[in-house]
Amino acid sequence: MIALCGIIGYIGNQKASEILVKGLKHLEYRGYDSVGVAIANEQGIDIRKDKGMIDDVSINLGFVSMNGHIGLGHNRWATHGAPCKENAHPHFDCTKKIVLVHNGVIENYLRLKEELAAKGHRFVSDTDSEVIAHLMEEQSKTDKPFYAFIKSLKKLKGSYALAVMFADDKEHIYIARKGSPLIIGVGKGEMFCASDIPAMLNYTKTFIPLEDGDVATISKNGYKISDIEGKAVERKSITVDWDLEMAEKGGYPHFMLKEINDQRHFINETIATDVSAAKELVDKCDKIDIVACGTSYHAGLLLSYLLMRKGRNARAYIASDYQFIANPDENTLVIAITQSGETADVLQALKFAKEKKTKIVGITNIVASSITRIADALVYLNAGLEIGVAATKTFMAQLAVAYMLVYPKEKLENVRSIIAGMLEKENEIKEIAAKLKDAHDAFFIGRGISVPIAYEGSLKFKEISYIHSEAYPGGELKHGTLSLIVKGIPLIAIAPDDETAPKLMGNIKETKARGAIVISITDNPEIKKESDYVIELPKIDKDLYPFAEIVPLQLLAYHVSVLRGNNPDKPRNLAKSVTVE
Ligand code: G6P
Repeated sequence: MIALCGIIGYIGNQKASEILVKGLKHLEYRGYDSVGVAIANEQGIDIRKDKGMIDDVSINLGFVSMNGHIGLGHNRWATHGAPCKENAHPHFDCTKKIVLVHNGVIENYLRLKEELAAKGHRFVSDTDSEVIAHLMEEQSKTDKPFYAFIKSLKKLKGSYALAVMFADDKEHIYIARKGSPLIIGVGKGEMFCASDIPAMLNYTKTFIPLEDGDVATISKNGYKISDIEGKAVERKSITVDWDLEMAEKGGYPHFMLKEINDQRHFINETIATDVSAAKELVDKCDKIDIVACGTSYHAGLLLSYLLMRKGRNARAYIASDYQFIANPDENTLVIAITQSGETADVLQALKFAKEKKTKIVGITNIVASSITRIADALVYLNAGLEIGVAATKTFMAQLAVAYMLVYPKEKLENVRSIIAGMLEKENEIKEIAAKLKDAHDAFFIGRGISVPIAYEGSLKFKEISYIHSEAYPGGELKHGTLSLIVKGIPLIAIAPDDETAPKLMGNIKETKARGAIVISITDNPEIKKESDYVIELPKIDKDLYPFAEIVPLQLLAYHVSVLRGNNPDKPRNLAKSVTVE
C-alpha cells in the first residue's frame, strides 16, 4: 500500500517529461524511495520507473528522452510493501492503455483485487493503487473515459489523489481528490496538476486547489471540475507570489541550513501576520485544547505553557491521541498547529472536535491546505516554503504566533535581532558538534518554558543525526534517567538566567558528578562555570528566551548530522507531510 506520495501531471505543447522531472524534484520531500513517469504519444504509453531518487533514476532510465506532450509523474514513500520497481508508480491496467498515479490508501483494495482477479485481471504489484487501473479497464468496456473514471471512483473506499491517462484519449488527464491534496495549475495553452504548488511554480502562478470529492478533467486549454456524479462545481482560483528561488537552496549546501538562516529574514513577516480573529476566539473561550504533531506539538506545548502562566485553562495534546483522552464541548477552542496543513493525525483530531461543536483555529504555513477549509479562524505562518524534512523555520514562526496569541505584538520587536545574534555562533556550535558526533546517546534538559525547546532540540538532534536522544524537565532526571548518565554522555542544558537557573544548576551538578559532558545554552555565570562547553545566550526579556535557545539546537543537530555523513534534508524513514494516521 502507498500512502504519502507526490503526484504531477502535464498536458500542453512542451516536452512533458522535462516538466515532470523538474516537478518531481520539488515533490521529493513528500516521498523519495521510488519514482516514475508515464508519457503518452503516438506509439502508446511508455512507463519508466524504479526504486531510488529522482536524480539517479531519471538519468539511469533516460526520463527526459521520452517524447510526448502529456504525462504523469510520481514520487513514492512506502508505508507498507517494499519500495521496488513493481510497486513504484505509474501503474498500468492489463491492456497497458490506462495508466495512473495515486497518493492515498484504498482500504477495500483486497476485495476489489479478488473480484478483478476472478474476472481475469493480472496484477504485477503489491499496491492498492494498481487495483484502480484494472477497475477502470473493466469499466471502460462499457463507458467512455470520464464515466469509466467516476464509476470506478465510486467503488473505492479510502483516500486518494489520482491522475489518470488513457492511450486512446491523449487530449485529457482525469484527476480526483478525496483526502489527499491535489491542485490544478492553470497555464496558457497548457495545464498542470500536482500534490502541491512548488512543483508547478516554474510555469504558472495561478492555481485551483481541488476539494475533497472533486473530480476534474484537464486539457491543454481548460479544465472542468465536477462532483463524483459528474455535476459541475465552481472552485476559486488563487494566485501566489512565491518565486521559485524561495524554494531553492540559495547557496547553502542543504535546505535545512538555508532555512535555519532564513529565520532572521522572514520572522518579521510572521509577526505581521493577522492573528486578530484567532485572538478573539482565544480571549473568548473558557477552555483551550491545542492539537499538533512532531515539531508543531512542541510549539503547541509552549503555547499551552504561556496560556497557563496567564491563568488560562489550556492544554496541548498529541493530535493522534486527542480523541481518546479529551472531552471538548461547544465552549472549547481547539487550536490546531500544522505547518503543512495536511497532517492526517491533526485532521482526524479536528474531525472529532467538529463533532463536539468546538470552535477551531488553524495555524499553518500552506495556503489552501486541507486545514484551511476546516478552521473557523486561520493564522498563516508566512514563513515561505520549507523543504527540509526537519522543520526549523516553521517552528520559529509557530513560536512567534504562539506569543502573539498571548502577548501584544510589540513584545516581539527584538526577536529578529535575537535570532540574527544566535546565528552568528555557528562556528562555535560546529566545534561542539565535532565533539558530539560519535556519541550513542544524548540528553536534553530544561525547565519551565525551556522544556518544549529541550524536546524540540532533542527531536531535531535524533531525527537527523540518528543518535538516540531524550529530553526531560530537569527535575525528572533523578526519577529514573539518571541511571543512564555515565562518563562521557552528552547533556545539553537549556539554562537561561531566569527563575529556573538555580534548580537547573542542581540537575547539571547531578550529571557532572556522574561524568556527563555538559553543554549549556546559558547566560547564567554559575552554570557557565560548571559547563564543559557554553553557548552564550544574550540578556533579553526573560519570556523570549525560547527564540534564542532554539537556534543553536537546530545548528547543533544540523552539523552533527552532516559530520556523520547523513543528508539532513532527507532523514531516513521520514517524510515532511504525513497524510496517514
Ligand atoms: C512530520 C514531519 C515533522 C512535523 C510533523 C507535523 O512528522 O517529519 O517535521 O513536525 O510531521 O507536521 P505538520 O505539517 O502538521 O506541522
